[in-house]
Amino acid sequence: MLRTHTCGELRINHINEVVTLSGWVQGVRDKGSLLWIDLRDRYGITQITVETENASPEIIDMARSLGREFVISVTGKVVERYSKSDKLDTGDIEINPSGLILLNAAITPPFTIEDETDGGDELRMKYRYLDLRRNPVRKNLELRHRLAIETRNFLEVETPVLIKSTPEGARDFVVPSRMNQGEFYALPQSPQTFKQLLMVGGFDRYYQIVKCFRDEDLRADRQPEFTQIDCEMAFVEQEDILNTFEGLVRHLFKSVKGVDIPELTRMTYADAMKYYGNDKPDIRFEMKLTELNDLVKNIGFKVFDDAQLVVGICAKGAADYTRKQLDELTDFVKRPQIGATGLVYARYNADGTIKSSVDKFYNEAELAKWAAAMNAQPGDLILILAGDENKTRKAMSELRLEMGNRLGLRDKNKFACHWVIDFPLLEWSEETARWHAMHHPFTSPKPEDIALLEVNPGAVRANAYDMVINGVEVGGGSIRIFNKELQAKMFGLLGFSKEEAQDQFGFLMNAFEFGAPPHGGIAFGFDRLCSLFGGAEVIRDFIAFPKNNSGRDVMIDSPSVIAQAQLNELGIGLKK
Ligand code: AMO
Repeated sequence: MLRTHTCGELRINHINEVVTLSGWVQGVRDKGSLLWIDLRDRYGITQITVETENASPEIIDMARSLGREFVISVTGKVVERYSKSDKLDTGDIEINPSGLILLNAAITPPFTIEDETDGGDELRMKYRYLDLRRNPVRKNLELRHRLAIETRNFLEVETPVLIKSTPEGARDFVVPSRMNQGEFYALPQSPQTFKQLLMVGGFDRYYQIVKCFRDEDLRADRQPEFTQIDCEMAFVEQEDILNTFEGLVRHLFKSVKGVDIPELTRMTYADAMKYYGNDKPDIRFEMKLTELNDLVKNIGFKVFDDAQLVVGICAKGAADYTRKQLDELTDFVKRPQIGATGLVYARYNADGTIKSSVDKFYNEAELAKWAAAMNAQPGDLILILAGDENKTRKAMSELRLEMGNRLGLRDKNKFACHWVIDFPLLEWSEETARWHAMHHPFTSPKPEDIALLEVNPGAVRANAYDMVINGVEVGGGSIRIFNKELQAKMFGLLGFSKEEAQDQFGFLMNAFEFGAPPHGGIAFGFDRLCSLFGGAEVIRDFIAFPKNNSGRDVMIDSPSVIAQAQLNELGIGLKK
């Protein structure tokens, strides 16, 4: 055996045992009469001490020839350390080697393989297999593993990866078919239709931890291939799904993090937009949006008069913000990503006076009305944006989060989990001049709103829900349509002709004619869940082999060009 124990295992009770450890050389320190090797594997580090007076010349020579990341196997007696280390779990003991075998040499790694590394992002991505040896990365993947283990209790079914391209949702990644030239498979954006067909097939509680693929622009919380905890249940209503998966998430927090999460609160989509400007509000802190149209208009300030929406937030205890800090906030909201034209503020000073950046237009009595509407107290800072309704709400939502950060209200060790429910079924796209499904085309309208489908489609609410944790959408799902006529009507609303709907989704609508049970489900973004549990925002750190922001795997250098012969075989890009 190349090892009897791991490098994180030995303690004081192992003293005098002869053991064999194998691993990587983290470092060697040579003090002449004593030589220390730090031996590392994924469980920890154990110190190997070579006393040059007692050790064999071969062992001494071998120890002196070792470099960082050499792979070795050491046999020797466990002895108590003279000076103990409380930094290592194995810090009470060390090994005096009687045998030392070099299993493999290593060239110098391009960055230090320690918790604090000198390697930049790109370099660590290129040599991801070396990065995986580092504790922080390894711990993230172990956290991912524990979350996966705790999730497995429904019936697991694998769904295919080579499926059919559909026009809804994000862009598909496509795969050319050699045997059916000119035709393409698509990689699944989610196993949505398959899990519904499993319900028709009688599998009433399905789950799968599954790779999904979406060709969309990347962000910190988005990867082109990512993992979902995907679930579906038959004979359920929305309430059953919410309760079941609230249970799952509370269980995960308890078992993996030891954190008790209270029962999840629920907020309608309409309230989320009204009070937070956002369909995934971070409710670790209040600072709700207050609409001020009625108080500020028709007094002569053109910016407010011309605005569709004037909306404010009250930042508690921030009245002493300096001019410089306020200028920074103004610059923040004017950034193109936020898009506001300017920021109005009012300081509610500790002495009770209120001074605003628009004192020319509003007297103190009027400012006092703003303060009352926002429940502002002396010492608070009022921040106001105005403009187009949707844009302004969105910009205020960003400003609220920014103020939350600045005031230390977004503690990553605090978890605020809740449901956002009653999403609209459809949203209008100016770009394509048609309705799009807000969740996906298989989501059921609320039965009481079905009559509105004909007359006012935008007002129809769906039985759709998202789970939001600390302002991150970690999961989303819906109760599904399970009736062919309603599904056909939905495709009609989305602009599909009868033929197109039959061509693209006939397999599902036909299945509904064979006794489909009522069903619904949800999918969690597993990578997002892992990053939240790990107190981070970037999901890349919780994926063993992620892509960079341009969708490249810099380690294997992919995507890459392929040979003309391969293209010819696939019948694409034929050269004459
Ligand atoms: P949805 O599209 O809302 O629903 O996706 C579910 C969850 O997956 C995560 N997610 C992502 N994570 C990382 N990178 C991405 N590019 C990415 N895109 C989405 C989010 C999201 O909440 N089939 C439906 C689910 C259902 O109705 O049951 C679906 O896929 O956390």
